[in-house]
Amino acid sequence: IRPAPAWPLPRLFAHRCGGALAPENTLAGLVVAARLGCRAVEFDVMLSADGTPWLIHDETLERTTDGSGRVAATPDVLLAKLDAGIRQHPAFSGEPVPTLAAAAALCRRLGLQANVEIKPASGYEALTGEVVARAIGELWRDSAAPLVSSFSFAALAAARCVAPQLPLGCLWTQPPADWRAPFDELRAFSVHCAAEGLSDNFLVAASAAGAPVLCYTVNDAEQAAALWRRGVSALFSDRPERLLPAAALHD
Ligand code: G3P
Ligand code: MG
Repeated sequence: IRPAPAWPLPRLFAHRCGGALAPENTLAGLVVAARLGCRAVEFDVMLSADGTPWLIHDETLERTTDGSGRVAATPDVLLAKLDAGIRQHPAFSGEPVPTLAAAAALCRRLGLQANVEIKPASGYEALTGEVVARAIGELWRDSAAPLVSSFSFAALAAARCVAPQLPLGCLWTQPPADWRAPFDELRAFSVHCAAEGLSDNFLVAASAAGAPVLCYTVNDAEQAAALWRRGVSALFSDRPERLLPAAALHD
């Protein structure tokens, strides 16, 4: 049995919380996504030096915050002081880097379903998978669990060990020829991959396996419609406002 989300898969996930309309991986992004009418969001989660899961994409702080250095070497007390708005969207300056706990609480309050992408710092793959899966079990204990994905097989395997019922997604830039082996071993639900280079052969094989395919990052409404027509189940978008009208037609 492959654990599936207890919520219907929507056609669209706002990428990194709110897409390009707010600083990535922030609570402000979640609010924007909900206000637009998105039903689901994707965000990236990494551990701090204290082993706490935070929403951040890069292994280092420079691109998205006013801090510097490695996330995995930064304690919670310092991460909590950083500004995740000023570098990306000055209008959002002062916006904090959220913890997974804060994002989970806001997703639940806003009625947003989530795809939590485990983004382990190099060397921390299994630990991150285990800690994030345990945290999800606590944070979503009274509601349907999010879909959890990662480019790291080790992270997903560790998550599966501690959370036998968690819905998992295998994430690849391009699925390898032998994608079924890790997919089956993890009892994964879905395959997530880049829209570029997605082959019809793979879509046929995924469909035969009963595996929904989710593609990143699609910002153009015509490209989105073509992917949905080809059988892609859902898209991650930085421009959800452009894709939402078409997503409604395909839902
Ligand atoms: O989870 C899909 C997508 O977010 C993977 O790429 O680099 O944006 O996390 P990235
Ligand atoms: Mg991501």
